[in-house]
Amino acid sequence: MNRHLISAADLDRDDAIGILDTAEELARAEGRPIRKLPTLRGLTVVNLFYEDSTRTRTSFEAAAKRLSADVINFSAKGSSVAKGESLKDTALTLEAMGADAVVIRHPASGAPRRLTDWVSGRVINAGDGTHEHPTQALLDAFTMRQRLAGGPDRHGRGLDGVRVTIVGDVLHSRVARSNVLLLATLGAQVTLVAPPTLMPYAVDTWPCRAGYDIDAELRKSDVVMMLRVQQERMSAAYFPTVREYRRRYGLDSSRMALLPEHAIVMHPGPMNRGVEIAAEVADSDRSTIVAQVANGVTVRMAVLYLMLGGAAEGSA
Ligand code: NCD
Repeated sequence: MNRHLISAADLDRDDAIGILDTAEELARAEGRPIRKLPTLRGLTVVNLFYEDSTRTRTSFEAAAKRLSADVINFSAKGSSVAKGESLKDTALTLEAMGADAVVIRHPASGAPRRLTDWVSGRVINAGDGTHEHPTQALLDAFTMRQRLAGGPDRHGRGLDGVRVTIVGDVLHSRVARSNVLLLATLGAQVTLVAPPTLMPYAVDTWPCRAGYDIDAELRKSDVVMMLRVQQERMSAAYFPTVREYRRRYGLDSSRMALLPEHAIVMHPGPMNRGVEIAAEVADSDRSTIVAQVANGVTVRMAVLYLMLGGAAEGSA
């Protein structure tokens, strides 16, 4: 496995399956009375968050703590970043504190890659601008493996032949990009559906198809993943009205009925209920949204364990 996890493309098929299998093992340990494992005792994980986050930050924190690492949470608000300190100076401070891993979320695409030049610990990308969010893709793949009929063995250890349709604001979505890359590595067939204005320009270079007829795509999907409309990243009007967006691209119960019976509905959160996804769909039995959050902790434990486990043994 690579030293850092910046892009889903850093993982080859064996790496990705290794993470998912390790997460499965760890999920079994969750059932035991003592949930904390001593694996990363003595190591320090820094959560460096320059963007708001609920799920991802707390998920990394829980994951590191369950492996007994020391966790330092550093958010841009209330730190010297608010006084204008550069990423480089912050990195040098973390380096002086001896961070073994830095989990970074940053509004600028490329910031995690830059950080690798300045710290000696491992860097894990927890979302950079509109670029990538590899651990989200891993937890999504884990959830697909868990929930699809027949369990993981039906598809080998990967997701070979699974048909995944990703719908919505692909242009601004780091989740979509990381999912496309990881799912292709795992053998799934991905189709993106978006309004033409929210489809990335270079999508024909991605390992997936682009589709424009949502209803036709849903009829042949095993998984539909709805993306949040990311208003905060939109500098112009990408669609006429919310109502129009909902009508053309939103998932309500009548559209959900087009899916094959076994198909699941995913969303990375946070959701705009009533925009890209109707409340009754989000709360339905087919929705894996809550499972995705729970799986996020185990998958991030697996990532930390595999990236730092060797270091912990060396320092013991
Ligand atoms: C995503 C993100 O931040 O990229 N959320 C998450 O990590 N669970 C998706 C989003 O913000 O829409």
